[in-house]
Amino acid sequence: MAWNLPANAPKTTGDAFAYVGNLVNGATVDDLKILALVEALGMELYEDLATRTDHPEVKALLIANGREEMVHAHRISQALEILTGEPFPIPPIADNPLYTALPPMPVTKSGLTGLAAGELAGEQLYDGIAASFDHPDVIALLKQNGREEVEHGQRLQQASAYLPD
Ligand SMILES: [Fe+2]
Ligand SMILES: [Fe+2]
Repeated sequence: MAWNLPANAPKTTGDAFAYVGNLVNGATVDDLKILALVEALGMELYEDLATRTDHPEVKALLIANGREEMVHAHRISQALEILTGEPFPIPPIADNPLYTALPPMPVTKSGLTGLAAGELAGEQLYDGIAASFDHPDVIALLKQNGREEVEHGQRLQQASAYLPD
């Protein structure tokens, strides 16, 4: 496929998130490809989650996060193009080689609080990834994603506050 993923690339959504979590210790160009695809599938996960609540504000906050995950995917694609000189197209979800459907997660206060913690850790994750690269534009793209992961965490905390205990 166009993405030229390494042989050890994760093959499921769950493995892909675990893989990306380890990049806090540093990342290669191949790792950025996996990260871009994980960000892209993040939109699908948020949109899927949004279908499982009738609360309009909660729905809107989840969709806003999802939309921004796709923006993150495109920023990493831009970073890859800077580093490799080659375009890295972000595929639609049906063609995403890392995506496998997750068991449906109910939209609950504790579920969203847990997700928020993961998002809030995203800034440190992106700082760790950015430390592996020298190109100032690449670093700026990664750090911007990291700052926005904090906003995702804050949106999820806001969403959880709308839900009953
Ligand atoms: Fe993201
Ligand atoms: Fe996020």
